[in-house]
Amino acid sequence: MTKKSKVILVTGAAGGIGGACVDLLLHQGKRICAADLKPFHDDDVHEDAHDTLLMQRLDVSDPASCKAVVAATLERFGRLDGLIHMAGIHSDHNWRELEAEEFNKLLSINVTGTFLMAKAAAEAMSKTGGGSIVLTSSGSVNMSGHGGEVSSCPAFVTSKAAVIGLVGALARSFAPLHIRVNAVSPGATDTALMAHYSEEALHRLSQRTLAGRVGSASEIARVASFLVSDAASYVDGQVIAVNGGETFDR
Ligand SMILES: NC(=O)c1ccc[n+]([C@@H]2O[C@H](COP(=O)([O-])OP(=O)(O)OC[C@H]3O[C@@H](n4cnc5c(N)ncnc54)[C@H](O)[C@@H]3O)[C@@H](O)[C@H]2O)c1
Repeated sequence: MTKKSKVILVTGAAGGIGGACVDLLLHQGKRICAADLKPFHDDDVHEDAHDTLLMQRLDVSDPASCKAVVAATLERFGRLDGLIHMAGIHSDHNWRELEAEEFNKLLSINVTGTFLMAKAAAEAMSKTGGGSIVLTSSGSVNMSGHGGEVSSCPAFVTSKAAVIGLVGALARSFAPLHIRVNAVSPGATDTALMAHYSEEALHRLSQRTLAGRVGSASEIARVASFLVSDAASYVDGQVIAVNGGETFDR
């Protein structure tokens, strides 16, 4: 591990896709700040943790918490080169069940939290010549809200549609700072988020992909790690679908 290896902040790092991002980036020799609201499992702790891995508690809906995680990253590693922002919450409630409180919570964490985390990261990256930010949308936005266990989940889909707007707005805002902003848009991916889905729902989600199956967390992580890297230096303001060829009429 050299002082030159890139420093990447991964949010939602105790979750399925965020955890896969941490594993992959550590394997690639990156230095990582892994941040999440929920505690990490014991088996999430890697060797040589002090040089390569910092684990932090984070609430992305709290601006002070976003700034504190970036400050802790700078204190440990001296710089920040990339952000992979996977933190998010889901809502399976349909329009009859959904109330304003839950809708606003989804927007606060998935939308405002995305902005706050990107803003805090960009402040740090701008001081060292730039970087790369990867946000997270969802394939359900392109499926007319046809996602999850139920046929429609308006709060989640709305929040992930808003992330697409943020990608464009932040890519333009941060371009003068040499910071690229892109997003991954996962299709149905096998993580805890889907743990409660019925066999019928999993079958339906699989059948609407060309691949004929749901994705794995590592398949999403590989694309996120590409986007955050210099290999994607000419990719900016894009939302990249990673969904096994998901289409509506299958
Ligand atoms: N799994 C899927 O099928 C799927 C599909 C489309 C999009 N996504 C998106 O991918 C991302 C990762 O999802 P996942 O499947 O790994 O889910 P996950 O639930 O395993 O991970 C999400 C993580 O975000 C963390 N989190 C929640 N609120 C937070 C907050 N306020 N501050 C900080 N961390 C917080 C959770 O503690 C959790 O560890 C999410 O944004 C999700 O919406 C997932």
